[in-house]
Amino acid sequence: MKLGIARERRDGERRVAATPETVKQLTELGLEVLVESRAGVTAGHSDQDYEKAGARIVPDLDLGELDVYAHVRPLEPSTAISLHRGAVTIGLASPSSELPTVRALADAGVTSFALELVPRISRAQSMDALSSQALVAGYRCVLEAAMRLPRFFPLFMTAAGTVPPARVLVLGVGVAGLQAIGTAKRLGARVSANDIRPSSADEVASMGGTFINLDLDKAGQTAEAAGGYARELTADRGALQRRLLAPHVAQADVLITTAAVPGRRAPLLVSREMVQGMRPGSVVVDLAAESGGNVEGSVPGRDIQVPTADGQGHVILAGMKDIASTMPADASRLYAKNIANLLALMTRDGTVTPDFEDEVQAGACLTHDGEVRHTPTAEALAALAGQMAALVKTQQSSNEGVA
Ligand code: NAI
Repeated sequence: MKLGIARERRDGERRVAATPETVKQLTELGLEVLVESRAGVTAGHSDQDYEKAGARIVPDLDLGELDVYAHVRPLEPSTAISLHRGAVTIGLASPSSELPTVRALADAGVTSFALELVPRISRAQSMDALSSQALVAGYRCVLEAAMRLPRFFPLFMTAAGTVPPARVLVLGVGVAGLQAIGTAKRLGARVSANDIRPSSADEVASMGGTFINLDLDKAGQTAEAAGGYARELTADRGALQRRLLAPHVAQADVLITTAAVPGRRAPLLVSREMVQGMRPGSVVVDLAAESGGNVEGSVPGRDIQVPTADGQGHVILAGMKDIASTMPADASRLYAKNIANLLALMTRDGTVTPDFEDEVQAGACLTHDGEVRHTPTAEALAALAGQMAALVKTQQSSNEGVA
């Protein structure tokens, strides 16, 4: 079977879905790997590296001849409809925000696997791209903060005096948040963190951070949902959380926010007023900027100067964008492994034949045989179709009224 590795085309994307190492693994599975010329250049891999590993380099992929297509960014609808019926795609698909592509994949009879849907179970950890890319993001956002901060992270005791360590506050302690804590600790900062899942307290401690317990659970409802994910807070509890966090934010030199609730807009944890309450020169890095932002006013890909309440300076509010792509070598190394491991699970004797009895393959499947298999996405598409139909009906009756 022919497996195509695309040269990613979305602006700013520097990762690639296979490395020479995984090409070797994939050819050993019996797949014929076609790599689009220069697909790996930004991740540090030349066409020759891929060729040596057993791939065939092609100037452009002929989508219609591929049996399997591996990608990083969600596909465009035009790509989906160029694939043949029964072809398999595998990569990040952003189902909730890329509904037209999901519709196109289903209509084209493509079997698509979305890495976001890989179940969070221990057997599937090696295929979990959300975790591997969150690790990159969590590491990188601390470096981004350190580069913007006009002071050291570590404690220095020098002949010229003692410099106290920077105080870093991390809000949201999933994979990215934990990695941010670990990285800030390695740089020598004093780190504290908060998450609404009570179980994260031990994880924060294990990384050397201090957990800030806001006792939001006192109100009754636990913030932890099935699968270890967070539940969305009610408006009242969200406001209470912001009020309780305000003094901690005011004391931080660096604030890093990574909070997310699956399938929802990122929760607002920090208001503009809270940012204004920080000291001049402080830095806020919002990792959730692309999904709505944890910090009021953050803009993906931009640094904003927020004047401090004392009128003495400003805080830098940095909205992160495509952050995993800023470390394309290691992000691709991990991502390509995730893809190869999932493909290995569904390949027998050189043929990719997904087994829908298997929990991981069934869970990750987005479309198959003309259907959208992921229920929330199917429901979102149905709702969209309903809205379109209502719109057409309204338009028709207003046209009739005019006539
Ligand atoms: P995520 O990216 O969905 O969210 C990041 C963090 O934000 C979470 O820890 C969440 O509790 C927190 N959060 C949400 N609303 C918040 C609020 N209002 N205030 C403060 N924090 C808030 O999380 P991620 O990284 O996907 O991990 C989610 C869970 O999945 C974790 O429990 C993690 O341990 C678990 N997990 C399990 C894996 C496995 O078993 N294979 C692999 C990776 C993660």
